[in-house]
Amino acid sequence: MHDPAALRSSHLARFQAEPEIFVAPGRVNLIGEHTDYAEGFVMPAAIEFATLAGISPRSDGKIVIYSENYSQECVFDAAALPEAASHHWSDYPLGVVAILAGEGHSIPAFSLSLWGDVPLGSGLSSSAALEVATALAVTSLVGVSYPGPVLARLCQRAENEFVGANCGIMDQFISANGAKDHALLLDCRDLSFKLAPIPESVALVIANTMVKHAVSGGEYTSRRAEVEAACAVIASHRPEVRFLRDATPEDLERWGSEMSPNSLKRARHVITENLRTVAAAAALIRHDLPELGRLMAEAHRSYSQDFEASCVEADMMVELAQDIPGLIGARLTGGGFGGCTVNLVAVEHAPAFAETLAERYAAKIGIKPQIHICHASGGAHRVNTSI
Ligand code: GLA
Repeated sequence: MHDPAALRSSHLARFQAEPEIFVAPGRVNLIGEHTDYAEGFVMPAAIEFATLAGISPRSDGKIVIYSENYSQECVFDAAALPEAASHHWSDYPLGVVAILAGEGHSIPAFSLSLWGDVPLGSGLSSSAALEVATALAVTSLVGVSYPGPVLARLCQRAENEFVGANCGIMDQFISANGAKDHALLLDCRDLSFKLAPIPESVALVIANTMVKHAVSGGEYTSRRAEVEAACAVIASHRPEVRFLRDATPEDLERWGSEMSPNSLKRARHVITENLRTVAAAAALIRHDLPELGRLMAEAHRSYSQDFEASCVEADMMVELAQDIPGLIGARLTGGGFGGCTVNLVAVEHAPAFAETLAERYAAKIGIKPQIHICHASGGAHRVNTSI
């Protein structure tokens, strides 16, 4: 787990300056997949895996960014920052800086140390954690403070406009606004949200298929295009439908035949997923865990069969979990095509559940999965390291 004191000492040793330290978490999504960019609903929770960012001012006009994970330092001129991404980890912090500069902030010289333990490429939003931690660090140095939802939107823009990944708002939003022991039902249309307590008796067991996932990959983008094409068909009959959020199962019955078979299936997933997500939040709030589990199972089927964003390994991980004692619900989480499943598990069963699932998966797939027993954590914040 992350250790701000260790980041502080390595920053001090490297840059001879006391850093201010910020932390931003990764996330797991309980339900609501590929609904955010359709202005629908999602219900993620922040997790204990996180990125730490330590920042201190410099007087030589440089921006120096050091990644503890990659043991790599990048040096830029604060007055002449790169204008385009270079397919390097530094794109994420630079993207945030570019968006803040575009908002009219004059960006001073600084040293930034980054360290994170969100597993990369596993669908747990390591990118969002990196962006949000950087954004908190840089805005604090600049002397501005944005409300969490605004900060999230700026970070999403960094990813869309600078990094070049066409993601929605979910990951940055939950990283900036998550609450300990709570899931967050977010309305991606107006960014209003409701916190839903996760009972103490429930653990989030995150099972990594070890199959790499990437939002910047072609599949995420092509799914999004199919969703948008389906929406355009409905909008040609009902112009008030701006996003699939506005569409209903009846719309699909009436006009589905005008869509390509793939668009029809993608739209069916998104439209039903929005309904499931709102129902799942209500179930969680009234402690109806069997209903929540049922909705998660249905969501996985829809994600796998209609959205076709699962993979053999993730389907297997979900299937193998089904009869292990303690399971409430399991599904593939995040952007799809690999990554992790999220399992809601009765807390007293969680260690045995994790062990059995790992054994079964290794026996079937031949890969040892990483399995983490987590709890929902708080959103991004400044860390006090004074000793
Ligand atoms: C990725 C994106 C999110 C969201 C999910 C799918 O995590 O970054 O915006 O679209 O995929 O639900």
